Amino acid sequence: MQQPIAILDSGVGGLTVVKEVMRQLPQEKIVYFGDTARAPYGSRPAVEILLFTRQIVDYLVRFQPKMIVIACNTATAVALDTIRSQVSVPVLGVIHPGARAAIKTTRTGKVGVIGTLGTIRSGAYEHALQSISPGIEVVSTACPLLVPLVEKGLFGGKDARDVVERSLAPLREVPMDCLILGCTHYPFLSELIAEIMGPNVTLISSAEETAREASAILGHRGLLAGGKEMPEHRFFCSGDPGMFQKIAESWLHRNVHVTPFDWQIPHIV
Ligand code: DGL
Repeated sequence: MQQPIAILDSGVGGLTVVKEVMRQLPQEKIVYFGDTARAPYGSRPAVEILLFTRQIVDYLVRFQPKMIVIACNTATAVALDTIRSQVSVPVLGVIHPGARAAIKTTRTGKVGVIGTLGTIRSGAYEHALQSISPGIEVVSTACPLLVPLVEKGLFGGKDARDVVERSLAPLREVPMDCLILGCTHYPFLSELIAEIMGPNVTLISSAEETAREASAILGHRGLLAGGKEMPEHRFFCSGDPGMFQKIAESWLHRNVHVTPFDWQIPHIV
């Protein structure tokens, strides 16, 4: 049996990481969990985010994954260290990869960060950026209205534009040459964000760098999947499976079978 890579998020945001894992590691089987019934996580207290993340990980370990990717910045900020201490496989977050990608990109040393309230309040990006490159200047803003837009599949149009514009207003005049999309949902809105921030600001998503890290760790451990057969992925979602499937299929450009998940019912694999 091929061991999967388990990837989790509060909702559809982690699909931005899934897409990169599929691109860089097409032989790898993925088990994805989107907790759409309880999204957004971003404005919830840390204890709740930790509890939810542990519940999802408890479920995903039944699939005997060879690696777990917390494809949610909010959960990474709150729960990464705890989850790492509780499971025996490598656990990746998305904040350090995002910070690394920004450091590789910035020329001016002035970096913007947008994320959920939880991520921004945690200061996790400032910490990660400064631990790699002390002296880097970081300006961050929470954009709590963006995740609900993405979960509804609203990636463009006037209403979405207005919300994105208002959310980014505090950063418009701030000098920076790159902006970290510090929430895995935000790449769904990258066209709008790019348009509003202008051509001199490069958008950074942690997806690519996270997939690269996954590849390096699995390679180092001799755990990369081989063979020519295309793996069968599994997607679980605790909320509306129809909306999840619609977003997943348009984002991943493939058919996606979604298994509904109900927290009230005990589950078997
Ligand atoms: N996609 C998540 C993140 O990267 C969570 C967003 C939310 O549920 O508020 O932070």
